[in-house]
Amino acid sequence: MRRNGSHVLITGAGGFIGGHLVRALLDQGKSVRAVDVKPIHEWDQYHSEAENWRLDLSLPADCHVAVDGVDTVYNLAADMGGIGFIENNKAECMLSVLISTHMLVAARDAGVERFFYSSSACVYAADKQGRPDDPFLVEEDAYPALPEDGYGWEKLFTERMARHFREDYGLSTKVARYHNVYGPHGTWDGGREKAPAAICRKVAMAKLTGDHEIEIWGDGEQTRSFMYVDDCVAGTLKITDGDFADPLNLGSSELVTINEMVDIVEGVAGVRLRRRHLLDAPQGVRGRCSDNTLIRKEFDWEPSIGLREGLERTYSWIEDQVAERLRGCASVGDVR
Ligand code: NAD
Ligand code: GDD
Repeated sequence: MRRNGSHVLITGAGGFIGGHLVRALLDQGKSVRAVDVKPIHEWDQYHSEAENWRLDLSLPADCHVAVDGVDTVYNLAADMGGIGFIENNKAECMLSVLISTHMLVAARDAGVERFFYSSSACVYAADKQGRPDDPFLVEEDAYPALPEDGYGWEKLFTERMARHFREDYGLSTKVARYHNVYGPHGTWDGGREKAPAAICRKVAMAKLTGDHEIEIWGDGEQTRSFMYVDDCVAGTLKITDGDFADPLNLGSSELVTINEMVDIVEGVAGVRLRRRHLLDAPQGVRGRCSDNTLIRKEFDWEPSIGLREGLERTYSWIEDQVAERLRGCASVGDVR
């Protein structure tokens, strides 16, 4: 079905951000093709107004099928997760290069007009993220290259490949470096979840089961900024539609320690819990935050949804998921 002239493809549409992006583009009246490798009943969100296809985009033939007839591609498909996943699955993360490569080739061959790629703050050099108090990253900090092992190298390589497809083949590529995105319908358990969802799950579980203690990875003094998914979608649309071609930070500049985020979630949930700090758990960089000077200059805009507000919406959704899970469990030990 063609709506509004433009036909867009979203890869990774069965995942967290992809599902929200499908909704936003449908709401703009776009004709949307949503593609993911997962069986459709496992998608995080399902929007019946879209064309929903199951394809494996690590295969060249499936990429050519996916791009047929579309003018804009949002390439979000990747094998990824929070720090616990990416530290322990480096080869698997790097294999997303097959998706990135075959999607760029297919888009070039099909004459796609715009190609968006979701890169990550994990491209930034480790030696610029060693301190929790001064972790603001500007776009140039990706070089000299020393990205997150595995996942970050794949992202940096694909950024570079997107640039060369633009320069050599005229494919209009756009790249955003997402900083830790959270919100409803994100992965909240199973090992790929990131800190905001993990903390919400742990607090909700403790609250609903009457537990008094939660586990926090590290001493909790490491810093991050967290972007609510609605800001991520808004920024992705602006960057794709705009004229700025180099990689841009897309993240919140509201810096918090992990302990401060736990305080907020506890406040939202209305509980106070003891914290057990696991010092040998995966921790990643010591400090990371988005410097938004460039996106403000280019787009007169930056993510603005506050962490408290975003966590209220996210916690409420995750508490519902935990409650649902508990209803279906013989023993609460099964879900912790
Ligand atoms: P997600 O894991 O929820 O979604 C990714 C989707 O890609 C999944 O549904 C997965 O099934 C799909 N996929 C994997 N391999 C595929 C294949 N071979 N063919 C088709 N689909 C395949 O992740 P997300 O949080 O929605 O992230 C979306 C994008 O943004 C990813 O590229 C990710 O690296 C990037 N990113 C996310 C964050 C974040 O905090 N969420 C931060 C930085 C960058
Ligand atoms: N996942 C998780 N789970 N992290 C926890 C937990 C927990 O229960 N408790 C504390 N943390 C701490 C981690 O040790 C880490 O220091 C910090 O919270 C943030 O962890 P994550 O959210 O898992 O990942 P990240 O910020 O290090 O990296 C993420 O963001 C990148 C973009 O900014 C990853 O999701 C990357 O894939 C992503 O590209």
